[in-house]
Amino acid sequence: MKVAVVVGSIRKESYNRKLAEYLKMRYADQITFEIADIRPLPFYDEDIELDPPRAVKEFKEQIAAADAVLWITPEYNYSIPGVLKNALDWLSRVDKVMNGKPSWIMGASMGQLGTVRAQEHLRDILFSVGITSPLLPNNEVYIGAVHEKMDESGKLIHEPTIGFIDLVVNNFMTWMQTRK
Ligand code: FNR
Repeated sequence: MKVAVVVGSIRKESYNRKLAEYLKMRYADQITFEIADIRPLPFYDEDIELDPPRAVKEFKEQIAAADAVLWITPEYNYSIPGVLKNALDWLSRVDKVMNGKPSWIMGASMGQLGTVRAQEHLRDILFSVGITSPLLPNNEVYIGAVHEKMDESGKLIHEPTIGFIDLVVNNFMTWMQTRK
């Protein structure tokens, strides 16, 4: 099972990116998580969408080659960061690589609500981005106060959160199998 992970933060010390790295390590025996990096993407521009820069082509190829996409996003001003919306806009056009592609969502923030509002927006956007692109129902992962739940290396150390994510990963695997 290959899952492309799109992280909605581009900063070096991003908690959401650390969460992606943690998942890669913890579930390596079940899932190959590959980060599809949004940092090299230019601003979406309809004038160049038919022959976009190489970074866009590679990003789309990576998404197309994955069995599913995991979106891991922070919340910026009650929504998703602009850099993530930009990536979604690229994916929504021309070859429409999200069509039929299953996806699921997680998010971490330092606030208490753990990206609830950003994820609501993201679900709305995903509804438009891919036709028949199913989203893992339920299993909402909102990690609030994330700075208190990771150690300095970015490893999750909060047992209830670790247990919950184990359950969600398991539910995701079952969901993917029942879709075959
Ligand atoms: C934030 N942050 C934030 N947090 C939140 O819970 N709700 C919000 O609306 C916002 N808004 C917001 C706007 C901007 C511009 C910044 C820079 C930050 C705080 C945010 O959750 C925190 O910085 C996270 O650590 C960002 O995620 P990464 O970069 O660590 O993955």
